[in-house]
Amino acid sequence: MAARRVGILTAGGDSPGLNAAIRGFGKTMIGTYGFEVVGFRDGFRGLAENRKSVLQKKQLAGILTIGGTILGTSRDKPTKMLIDGDVRDVTEQILAVCAKERLEGLVCLGGGGTAKNALRLSRAGLNVLTLPKTIDNDVAGTDATFGFATALEIATEAIDRLHSTAHSHHRIIVAEVMGHRAGWLTLGAGLAGGADVILIPEIPYSIGSIASAIRDRVKKGTNFSIVAVAEGARSVDDAKALAAAEARVAATKDPDARLAAKMEIAKLELQHEGNTLRLTQQLEQLTGLESRVTILGYVQRGGTPSPIDRLLATRLGTAAADFVAAGTWGVMVAAQGDGIAAVPLTKVAGRRNTVPPDHAWVRAARNVGTCLGD
Ligand code: F6P
Repeated sequence: MAARRVGILTAGGDSPGLNAAIRGFGKTMIGTYGFEVVGFRDGFRGLAENRKSVLQKKQLAGILTIGGTILGTSRDKPTKMLIDGDVRDVTEQILAVCAKERLEGLVCLGGGGTAKNALRLSRAGLNVLTLPKTIDNDVAGTDATFGFATALEIATEAIDRLHSTAHSHHRIIVAEVMGHRAGWLTLGAGLAGGADVILIPEIPYSIGSIASAIRDRVKKGTNFSIVAVAEGARSVDDAKALAAAEARVAATKDPDARLAAKMEIAKLELQHEGNTLRLTQQLEQLTGLESRVTILGYVQRGGTPSPIDRLLATRLGTAAADFVAAGTWGVMVAAQGDGIAAVPLTKVAGRRNTVPPDHAWVRAARNVGTCLGD
């Protein structure tokens, strides 16, 4: 009798721990349940193009500690894939590939965007299951996403290292941290690294408040400061412009008006490096302290996963295999406390886990005298 088969892909930005999850899932599927595991290259694009290989135990060995993803990844969406200059919906093509390959279902390792794409495929009739990965920690329905713990270590070490040079030169150093529209990484690294100012998307900032906090430090004899700024952090005015554009998307069904508002959102999202440079220049002008900027960028996503991420990814990957074998589909495999939960994709897609303004980390930052820009 032919072996039962399941597909797997990684989608969205890469994240430390992806290989650990692929290994945990693959080894359990093959070793415990006797399945064949079909790995698709480069996310949903490779699936649509049926670029695959049947994963052997040998390919799953030795990858636990390796960063990135052995499968490759992309940000392509099944419903809007750019092919030869045209944007196409390849959902039917994907369903045909899965049927041809005799897959019982598809496991997608990704963040919030991948959950949305998986839900669309599920509604089109495909058995799908997702695992939450991202350094941003912004996936709804799970306590944690793999990749976050590693990125937190990297960003914290960077902030640690910036202290001695900022101190020696009596400078302000602004460190831009990733995280998309969530402040977890910046807040966590800023708190752990003792940043003097932490700016996150959830708390719009006023330049005046930040400059005044830095001037207060100077008055007390400390003539350097470290500012940890999330790439998604915004001034009060920019935050209002973003909220207005989002309200326009929600309020209109007119395709042209929606497209215009979406393009404005994309523009506001893309200009984070400019915002960080502007913030740095403004702080130099307002405080008289020489100011420098460090954009941490992709080093936060690269390299070997931390033990916490290896554990989380292995836990989630092996649990996903149990769900597949039991025929549980249409869910995200989530970490909740010490346990694992199957959270319906309808409760994950389109939601974002952001930092609540009264979160314990926010209170702790305020209590140790960190300026949060408000
Ligand atoms: O989602 C992970 C992440 O690194 C975000 O923090 C960042 O905004 C984004 O990906 C960068 O995306 P890309 O790899 O497409 O440049």
